[in-house]
Amino acid sequence: MKFFADTAVVDEIAELNELGIIDGVTTNPSLILKSGRDILEVTKEICDLVDGPVSAEVVATEAEEMIKEGRKLAKLADNITVKVPLTWDGLKTCKTLSSEGTMVNVTLCFSANQALIAAKAGATFISPFIGRLDDINIDGLDLIADIRQIYDNYDFDTEILAASIRTVNHVSECAKIGADVMTAPPSVIKKLAQHPLTDAGLEQFMKDWAKTGQNIL
Ligand code: G3P
Repeated sequence: MKFFADTAVVDEIAELNELGIIDGVTTNPSLILKSGRDILEVTKEICDLVDGPVSAEVVATEAEEMIKEGRKLAKLADNITVKVPLTWDGLKTCKTLSSEGTMVNVTLCFSANQALIAAKAGATFISPFIGRLDDINIDGLDLIADIRQIYDNYDFDTEILAASIRTVNHVSECAKIGADVMTAPPSVIKKLAQHPLTDAGLEQFMKDWAKTGQNIL
């Protein structure tokens, strides 16, 4: 499963990138706000840093303007993925930009039918939002499983990019279901390495090592 970092904070991306564990980045208008940076400048910086796809979202709501914004974003770098919301105008934008050879991430997906129609419109990635479904007592992971089944039934090339990931459990469950990509905040990605038994075991080893009176260096 590919890992994307869901942030527009360059330092956070750089740390994960140095470890070689991220395959791309996703941003959205809220994450741009959080970063405090100019969208064009920060997106270009991220594209230069990371080899894989970097999603940057359009903010217009009508297709004509969305397409113009998408084309402008696409000019920033070869690894730009234009992110569009799952609306009728978003689908028109998806079709136009993907026909021009631009990668498109269709976001704010909350149903299997939305994922189906996005694939038909040529989406490179579909972003189902797990956490926001969980927030309203609908199991977001069921949606990932449904989309996996539908895409496999018909051999759609669109990649399932599990988004709105809030917990480490979301990550392992998405991997079991077979999501192609998961995007998560750096804080969640870092937690994947944690286990209380690892901490307890290490503490015991350090105590015993001190008693040996030895040094390795
Ligand atoms: O990738 C989508 C993500 O940024 C939304 O996450 O936690 O705001 O639902 P959240």
